[in-house]
Amino acid sequence: MALPLLGLCAWCRGALVSRTANRLTVVRGSARCPTAAAAAAARDGRSKSKWMGVVGLEVHAQLCSNSKLFSGSRVQFSAPPNALVSFLDASLPGTLPVLNKHCVEAAVMTGLALNCTINKKSMFDRKHYFYADLPVGYQITQQRCPIAINGNLAYSLYVGRNRNHMIPKLVRIQQIQLEQDSGRSLHDDARSQTLIDLNRAGIGLMEIVMKPDMCCGDEAAAAVRELQLILQTLGTCHGNMAEGQLRVDANVSVHQHGRPYGVRAEVKNINSPRFLARAIDYEIQRQIDILENGGKILNETRAFDYKTGQTISLRDKEGKQDYRFMPEPNLPPLAIFDNETLSSNVNPQQVVNIDHIRELLPELPDAKRKRLVEKYGILAEHSFTLVNEDGLVQFFETVLEQTEANPKKVIGWILNDFLALLKQNNLSVNQSPITPPALAELLTLLEKGFISSSAAKQVFVELWEGEGKSAVQIVEQKELGLIQDHRKLEQICQRVIEDHPSEVSEIQQGNWKVLNKLIGQVQRATHGRAAPTVVKFILEKKLS
Ligand SMILES: *[C@@H]1O[C@H](CO)[C@@H](O)[C@H](O)[C@H]1NC(C)=O
Ligand SMILES: *[C@@H]1O[C@H](CO)[C@@H](O)[C@H](O)[C@H]1NC(C)=O
Ligand SMILES: *[C@@H]1O[C@H](CO)[C@@H](O)[C@H](O)[C@H]1NC(C)=O
Ligand SMILES: *[C@@H]1O[C@H](CO)[C@@H](O)[C@H](O)[C@H]1NC(C)=O
Ligand SMILES: *[C@@H]1O[C@H](CO)[C@@H](O)[C@H](O)[C@H]1NC(C)=O
Repeated sequence: MALPLLGLCAWCRGALVSRTANRLTVVRGSARCPTAAAAAAARDGRSKSKWMGVVGLEVHAQLCSNSKLFSGSRVQFSAPPNALVSFLDASLPGTLPVLNKHCVEAAVMTGLALNCTINKKSMFDRKHYFYADLPVGYQITQQRCPIAINGNLAYSLYVGRNRNHMIPKLVRIQQIQLEQDSGRSLHDDARSQTLIDLNRAGIGLMEIVMKPDMCCGDEAAAAVRELQLILQTLGTCHGNMAEGQLRVDANVSVHQHGRPYGVRAEVKNINSPRFLARAIDYEIQRQIDILENGGKILNETRAFDYKTGQTISLRDKEGKQDYRFMPEPNLPPLAIFDNETLSSNVNPQQVVNIDHIRELLPELPDAKRKRLVEKYGILAEHSFTLVNEDGLVQFFETVLEQTEANPKKVIGWILNDFLALLKQNNLSVNQSPITPPALAELLTLLEKGFISSSAAKQVFVELWEGEGKSAVQIVEQKELGLIQDHRKLEQICQRVIEDHPSEVSEIQQGNWKVLNKLIGQVQRATHGRAAPTVVKFILEKKLS
């Protein structure tokens, strides 16, 4: 296949033009961020000028795949060093890359979920740099013509004292490109040597480039959390940041309202949303302080120091790097099809079809939250908690199918009692000893008034400790059922009245508040099992 060596392919011209345009635009992008502006103003009483942060992100997401992007080596997180290295990964001369179709499908699916345009033709390039964990001397990536462009990511920001005011936000996705991961260098200070592990070399990555539409650490962290959830829902990336499956770089600059963007510093390789927020907010404040004191921001790469909470300059990459991009000669342009372009002479098994992948898209987190709120009338913030916990939505909906309790009651039990016990015991939803049918039965007993809510909590704990008994069995064995029997309750009430003459006379003088005290005595006598409405009815009747 002929490879255009010069110029841009027709599909990508748009992407590059808009990227250039973006560098010049000032107006578009972050609407004033209330949190950052207010925080900065509060911290910096002496300045009257209002600084605004501008944050752009690049996320490297490791693709879920059993094998690497261009070789057949297995992908596994905890294998012994250099156990998963093919000749290609070790850059032996004469080896050739073979593109992994599954990785392409995963990138297309991610692009669709992020509302991107999928390029029907994308290309691979060599990006040259010299580092011990990249033995071949270049990374195969997509520079001129990535697989997906021009998307967006909707996320929500919670602000306010109790973080209960939700602001919907949008960040534009500039592009998604496929590329190889590098190996890993392990520095052994004691013996002053560097060891290389190539297990990671060649694993497929998606580089997701977001436009600088964010303005503070909270926004960036919320956007990354949402992206993480989307990738996990799609199954295209496990998204475990602690294990380096999702790594984030942030471009941070500050400027004054109506003025051009300032010089940006790039903070590299942050591996948790919390640290991302802290690194960005620290960097914004650092730059404001420098500018207020008449200093200049350096266009540099920085790292975040988790221990001190500061960003520090990485002087090793000073000076302009020339990556000498060139087309990868061993890989033809990547063609992707849809129903329309799929001609009858290609084997559908061997190509990637956008229409086919679109049909496989699962329900995305945002749609899921909206559906939960509309269908069950639960609060928006509750829908966030449900969706954030893997498997919890399904648990909730299974309980609902099988219980007579209403969704608002069920959500209370799930978010307070159930989730709290899971967290306490460091368990995931599918490790829970309580099954949805068991909880459903318990909540039905409560709903129908067979047990009191305090008895329900007790049954819940027994179910958790789980000897395989059902809620009904536990209620029967432990005699936790509410006493509805009128005659029995009447006897107990009579006794309480006889034992509390002073309260009774107070009530008879018109102080009906004291009735609660008598009700409490009845509950005490029955260990909380007396049906409250019946008790109240009997006492009122006897005392009026
Ligand atoms: C994609 O766009 C639709 C409609 O504009 C929007 O509802 C949805 O939230 C977007 N998806 C993401 C992941 O941002
Ligand atoms: C930061 O900006 C530079 C220059 O525009 C760009 O090359 C780089 O990819 C950006 N990095 C991030 C993390 O957005
Ligand atoms: C900073 O340097 C990068 C490359 O090192 C370059 O792409 C970018 O345009 C520079 N930005 C500014 C504001 O000087
Ligand atoms: C694409 O083709 C498949 C198989 O012929 C069909 O099931 C599907 O509905 C088509 N999708 C679109 C969007 O045309
Ligand atoms: C919680 O469980 C996870 C996975 O099962 C484990 O990696 C982690 O160390 C546990 N944490 C605590 C505090 O026990």
